[in-house]
Amino acid sequence: MRLSRFFLPLLRETPSEAQIVSHRLMLRAGMIRQEAAGIYAWLPLGFRVLKKIEQIVREEMNRAGAIEILMPTLQPSDLWKETGRYDAYGPEMLRIRDRHDRELLYGPTNEDMVTEIFRAYVKSYKALPLNLYHTQWKFRDEVRPRFGVMRGREFLMKDAYSFDLDAAGARRSYNRMYVAYLRAFSRMGLKTIPMRAETGPIGGDLSHEFIVLAETGESGVFCHRDLLDMPVPDETVDFDGDLEPIVRQRTELYAATEDVHDAARFEREVPEDKRVSARGIEVGQVFYFGTKYSVPMKALVTGPDGKDVPVEGGSYGIGVSRLVGAIIEASHDDAGIIWPAAVAPFDIALINLKSGDAKTDAACDDLYAKLTAAGKDVLYDDTNERPGAKFAGMDLIGLPTQIVIGPHGLEKGLVEVKSRATGAKEEMSLEAALKRLATS
Ligand SMILES: Nc1ncnc2c1ncn2[C@@H]1O[C@H](COP(=O)(O)OP(=O)(O)O)[C@@H](O)[C@H]1O
Ligand SMILES: [Mg+2]
Repeated sequence: MRLSRFFLPLLRETPSEAQIVSHRLMLRAGMIRQEAAGIYAWLPLGFRVLKKIEQIVREEMNRAGAIEILMPTLQPSDLWKETGRYDAYGPEMLRIRDRHDRELLYGPTNEDMVTEIFRAYVKSYKALPLNLYHTQWKFRDEVRPRFGVMRGREFLMKDAYSFDLDAAGARRSYNRMYVAYLRAFSRMGLKTIPMRAETGPIGGDLSHEFIVLAETGESGVFCHRDLLDMPVPDETVDFDGDLEPIVRQRTELYAATEDVHDAARFEREVPEDKRVSARGIEVGQVFYFGTKYSVPMKALVTGPDGKDVPVEGGSYGIGVSRLVGAIIEASHDDAGIIWPAAVAPFDIALINLKSGDAKTDAACDDLYAKLTAAGKDVLYDDTNERPGAKFAGMDLIGLPTQIVIGPHGLEKGLVEVKSRATGAKEEMSLEAALKRLATS
């Protein structure tokens, strides 16, 4: 993408309304635009990151055996009346009436609707286990939307729903999502710790929040230090096999959010030098709620013994739009964002130091064409800005690798390659740069 043809509205000034660094950087880097309190338009740079995160989550859901669908944002109130949640959900639910005076709502979550879909088609244990997921916009009329996309009112969530014949099966489904979450977050360059958590309006009694430690996090959290550096299962992990040992290795160490924290137990179970008490950002949550929805909605399956039983359920959410902010909180410096490669909006920043200079333009155009042909996403700054502004802009938007080409270097046959994360710069020939960047 040529910057001269792209839409990248960078801000020079630090926006005063933003209280945390990720919100400031997302505004300055032209990623989002607030349209109403807690409601954002995604500009091209932000949209690219959002889509990368969504795709990683999709790949890990698919790997774990979940099946993608798409449910609507608007839901009829009837479903929520069946489960008693229409009244229970309270003022966070955005209620809408259509022209026929029918009650609709903008979905804050989808347990009720997916259970309706399930019961319409699935009658036998032979179709189980089943896990259906989608990535769709949600609306929750939060009292205090803040911190940009971290606590929005409209936000993008991946939510998956598992269906099993019995509690043991539901536990296996829960474990599959637990491991898929570890993998998805780790692929985004995030270290997450699953912590025991309150279940809230979703219900049930087994739940973990996946937490990224960060000073600006909204939750107080407590855990055993060894959880910080536990290896995450690689892609050879067998989702059809027994995942309990992987889950147990983590759950046997203390980790809890403040809502369910037990100070006495923390002190009893965790040696003093291993106690971590910190703040964290919740990027995902998994719930096992059993028959909470299947009983009122009569979602029954016939077991091998011929008897009908209410299906056992769980639900599993990931804050896709919140993750954009969470990744920035975890990865930035004074100059701007430092994207982990897997979620970067472009792979490479190509900086032309003297646009209009025939030789420099030719070298840049040629490298741009070759890198693009090699499958790299390149943001090519071909504008007439001064070099200082180009460097600052590219540092701000944080693409993993920068390549700088100017007339002086070219005279010696050299270009500069810079790593955004380490700041390390290396001079090399154009051919060497192409070889390095096309294959990395
Ligand atoms: N207001 C919000 N803005 C952005 N992301 C949110 C918001 N509320 C929830 N999320 C994300 O969606 C995920 C699943 O939501 P859930 O656990 O049902 O919500 P909550 O934790 O607010 O009860 C959360 O882990 C979080 O990452
Ligand atoms: Mg939650």
